[in-house]
Amino acid sequence: MKVVENLIDLRCELNAVRAQGKTIAFVPTMGNLHEGHLKLIKRARESADVVVSSIFINPTQFGENEDIGAYPKTLEADKKHLIADGCGLLYLPNNEIMYPEPDLTRVEVSNITTLHCGSSRPGHFVGVATVVLKLFNQVQPNTAVFGLKDFQQFTVIKTMVENLFLPIEIIGVDTGRAEDGLAHSSRNNYLTAEEREVAPTLYATLQQAAEDCKSQTKSHALITREAKEALHAAGLTPDYFNISNQHDLEPATEHDTKLVILAAAYLGKARLIDNIAFEVLG
Ligand code: PAF
Repeated sequence: MKVVENLIDLRCELNAVRAQGKTIAFVPTMGNLHEGHLKLIKRARESADVVVSSIFINPTQFGENEDIGAYPKTLEADKKHLIADGCGLLYLPNNEIMYPEPDLTRVEVSNITTLHCGSSRPGHFVGVATVVLKLFNQVQPNTAVFGLKDFQQFTVIKTMVENLFLPIEIIGVDTGRAEDGLAHSSRNNYLTAEEREVAPTLYATLQQAAEDCKSQTKSHALITREAKEALHAAGLTPDYFNISNQHDLEPATEHDTKLVILAAAYLGKARLIDNIAFEVLG
């Protein structure tokens, strides 16, 4: 795996790849890679000839009260994982490369970004959309792969790509889970052994709520109330638990058939997020 740290070297490597008629799949990350990321690299390998990944801890997606300095940095372990999974090129830009002065431009996808995680993390998705568009422009991949665990992030990026006519195929990969259902996430590192036992309740509650929606015997309001009670009873503090349509993530109506339930809950120092997408048959 080649490693490049600046834009000139990145372009030089990618020009050589394109000159051979090869296609490029891109997996942007903030590092601290876990099994979930490695699923993305594997899917990227299936979608193009060469896989490019980036590690950049993006300051603009962290809020004022969020400690970017505490974000885990595990570069050497990340490199080993990426090599093992077939990543061909790793891009490691720094703040000066990603946000050169004068730094005056931000990318805003409206509506979707103010719901769910966007309401508790104002500005977060502006930071995500901005850095992803910058990375797309730098790498110019044919395909880009994102985890569906961050369903809202995936929807924001897909919408941005469609709205701006970017010639990139966006691929979503199902959430990787431990055997007990807990979604793979860097945030799981913050859980104590006791909290780790309780954490799968989030996905179990999503599954129960999805079954309730499918059976169409309870209102969405009741399903949501029962789910929040179940989370509280297990020791989690729900941030949100929202039954939405998959298209624009607005609250689902009785007529919507493609639904996604998005949830975030605090457990000790961790803020866990997860979702379940499903179809309601009429
Ligand atoms: O999902 C992430 O790790 C980040 O939000 C991303 C897409 C790499 C942008 O910084």
